[in-house]
Amino acid sequence: MPYTVGYFIGSLSQNSINRTLSKALIRLAPESLTFEEIPIKDLPLYNRDFDADYPAEGRALKEAIERHDAVLFVTPEFNRDIPGALKNAIDWASRPWGTNSLNQKPSAIIGASPGKIGTAVAQQNLRGILAFCNSPQMSAPEAYIQFTPGLITEDGEVNDPSTEEFLRHFMEEFAQFVQRVLTVLPKG
Ligand code: FNR
Repeated sequence: MPYTVGYFIGSLSQNSINRTLSKALIRLAPESLTFEEIPIKDLPLYNRDFDADYPAEGRALKEAIERHDAVLFVTPEFNRDIPGALKNAIDWASRPWGTNSLNQKPSAIIGASPGKIGTAVAQQNLRGILAFCNSPQMSAPEAYIQFTPGLITEDGEVNDPSTEEFLRHFMEEFAQFVQRVLTVLPKG
């Protein structure tokens, strides 16, 4: 069954290792999944005064999430949490009250950092946020990627066979998870 995935890159950096990781994930994903990035960099900082007349950036974000079958978060860890830009995007997606775009939207989380725990703490915090937003999350496999120089090329080729196999398995599991969730909770 074909599914479309909207993916978030939690980093705004032009040289983001998480963007590089996302290219590898797209390369290795089963053919049943197609991908579109959901951009977050031009969103203003959310505050509830916007709710009465949601601006175009906020509406575009919500529409992008809603038109996809599932969402994938590829994020760095900043000071043991997700970057503010990503939290801001989730806040936009969750409002105005009663129109939470993440409600019942299947999701998965992955992230890379140069450090050994590979975004584990940020991912745990993101799980709490997505649980509150009522997004069914793939709980396993977890994927904490320690990004060493040369691990993945600029265009997303993985140089380490065990990492390549692990990422391929992660995406296969994600495709199966999306199918399972959407069987129980049809989109729409
Ligand atoms: C970091 N970095 C970092 N790494 C980590 O493993 N745990 C952390 O808590 C932090 N904290 C942190 C805060 C801030 C403000 C910055 C700028 C960086 C390092 C981070 O993993 C590294 O810069 C990655 O390259 C960020 O991912 P992108 O932007 O390359 O995708």
